[in-house]
Amino acid sequence: MKLSCRASSIKPSATLAITAKAKKLKAEGKNIIGFGAGEPDFDTPGYIKNAVKDALDKGYTKYTPVSGIEELKSAIADKFLSDYNVGYEQSEIIVSCGGKHSLYNLFSALLNEGDEIIIPSPYWVSYTEIIKLSGGVPVIVDTSRNGFKFNLRMLESNLTKKTRGLIINSPSNPTGVLMDEKDITQIADFVKKKGLYIITDDIYEKIIFDDKKFFNALMVGKEVKENTVAVNAVSKTYSMTGFRIGYTAGPKDLISAMNNIQSQSTSNPTTFAQYGALAALKGGYDFTVMMRNEFQKRRDYMLDFFDKNIKSVIPVKPDGAFYIFADISKVFDESGNKINSSTEFCDYLLDKYLVAAVPGIEFGNDNFIRLSFAASLDVIKEGLNRIKEAVSF
Ligand SMILES: Cc1ncc(COP(=O)(O)O)c(C=O)c1O
Repeated sequence: MKLSCRASSIKPSATLAITAKAKKLKAEGKNIIGFGAGEPDFDTPGYIKNAVKDALDKGYTKYTPVSGIEELKSAIADKFLSDYNVGYEQSEIIVSCGGKHSLYNLFSALLNEGDEIIIPSPYWVSYTEIIKLSGGVPVIVDTSRNGFKFNLRMLESNLTKKTRGLIINSPSNPTGVLMDEKDITQIADFVKKKGLYIITDDIYEKIIFDDKKFFNALMVGKEVKENTVAVNAVSKTYSMTGFRIGYTAGPKDLISAMNNIQSQSTSNPTTFAQYGALAALKGGYDFTVMMRNEFQKRRDYMLDFFDKNIKSVIPVKPDGAFYIFADISKVFDESGNKINSSTEFCDYLLDKYLVAAVPGIEFGNDNFIRLSFAASLDVIKEGLNRIKEAVSF
């Protein structure tokens, strides 16, 4: 069938595909260890579920305003004020069906054919595809030689007349590395001068380890607000990935255009899910802190295990999120030409050792794999033992 050029140029999400394949093998009775998941393994807190039940009982099952209920947008505005000291009006906020949908609407509203968005690499798999779907051009900038940290020099040297802005995702999926405050500040000042946009994807902002501090462009100061578009979601912070609630705060014109696009596609995000998100945003961070502490224990266990037991797989130490991005280029050498790419390595792990991991090529770096630690410590231990065996050629 003749499909549109845009549809033909888009890849399916590799992370979702690997998670689905691992689930299928599990259902067939295989003892799979899943390092593929992009979602916390904790149950959604009870008070959030109860808020949804309550909303259903109250009959909140009809359309809401396209951009979301007022109470939720107020709670989002309160969050921006208390976290970053930046005020937003209702007209500067839109709630969408997950962070992914927020980004989709954002790039549809921002980009003309051929407009460029700079993406520090390695990057989350969907940025490139969403930008292409909007007719834009992703400009990939490798950060691996700078400790996976993007900086102003990299931005300047990739700037063209077509550049509209850049994405900052700190801590990042897949590396978990936090960008330096100094770099974000310099970039924000530059972006303001040039009339560009920083798209700050803060979805992992509350999952940060070792008492390190989150910093984003909005925290530079009110003067960069008009050049910053902040995307976030309740998905990872409260383990609510299935609710599909994300949100964007940005310049009024852009939010209004996103509203028009959303009004002609999904309309409002699911009504009762919005009430769950409202309860989440008003309910504090006790659950998130518990989850973060658990993730930190798992991260520390994994780093220690690699250090002591698997010399050929070298992890990047994540400052946040729940992934380990690990260099496997030594495995290529040691395998005696049996394994030459991250895809081959992940196929080998899944087929021979029933371990699911995501090939780094999907995030823009073929020398790496991504291991999610959104799994219990027992599962992680078993998985690491299998990887140890797998690389003992
Ligand atoms: C960096 C990043 N941004 C955005 C998202 C989208 O999250 P969701 O659409 O589930 O809210 C994800 C999910 O994996 C992510 O890793």
